[in-house]
Amino acid sequence: MNKQKELDKAYAHLDALLRDVYASQEKIIVRGEGNPDAALMLVGEAPGEQETLQRKPFVGKAGQNLTGFLEVLGLDRQDIYITNVVKFRPVKIHPVRGSLSNRPPKREEIALCYHLLLAEMRIVNPRVVATLGNTALHAVADDNALTIGAVHGRALPMPAGQGGGCIFPLYHPASIIYKRDLQQVYLQDVQALAQFLGDLP
Ligand code: URA
Repeated sequence: MNKQKELDKAYAHLDALLRDVYASQEKIIVRGEGNPDAALMLVGEAPGEQETLQRKPFVGKAGQNLTGFLEVLGLDRQDIYITNVVKFRPVKIHPVRGSLSNRPPKREEIALCYHLLLAEMRIVNPRVVATLGNTALHAVADDNALTIGAVHGRALPMPAGQGGGCIFPLYHPASIIYKRDLQQVYLQDVQALAQFLGDLP
């Protein structure tokens, strides 16, 4: 089976699972996208409002930072594979206004989507998985004790059985929107990633 078909099958499986688990609430799936043969995979936390409307990962505010990120790497969106740990938007409902806003994913939402993330890593089999923020780091490294502050900007080994690549933890682009002092650190980390990719044999 070719990679795209394998990915389609894995996503169809999640779709069926979500219909079963959340029978009464429709969950809109935002699929991973990009080059299924990419050397670099980016993993974010979960889609937000814009991503859900457009059914594409990283097209909202956090996605604007991604454009600068790709410029530093000298890559286009189509050169890499971009996905999220959780494939649907985790929302909370305002008790009075009834409006929706983003919230961090719950443990059970991560667990429901975890097999699909592993399937994407197996199928795409990238050389490097760059995780954006703690949720992605914990899921890909399979280690909730890691903190982005301690391990950002350098390669970590991939857990056994998850492909031959390595993990390169980065801050989440949304966190640098709110913490301006992280912008320089983030830029240095992305430059370190560019160097790391360039040095790969
Ligand atoms: N933040 C994420 O982690 N993923 C997206 O797709 C958008 C914003």
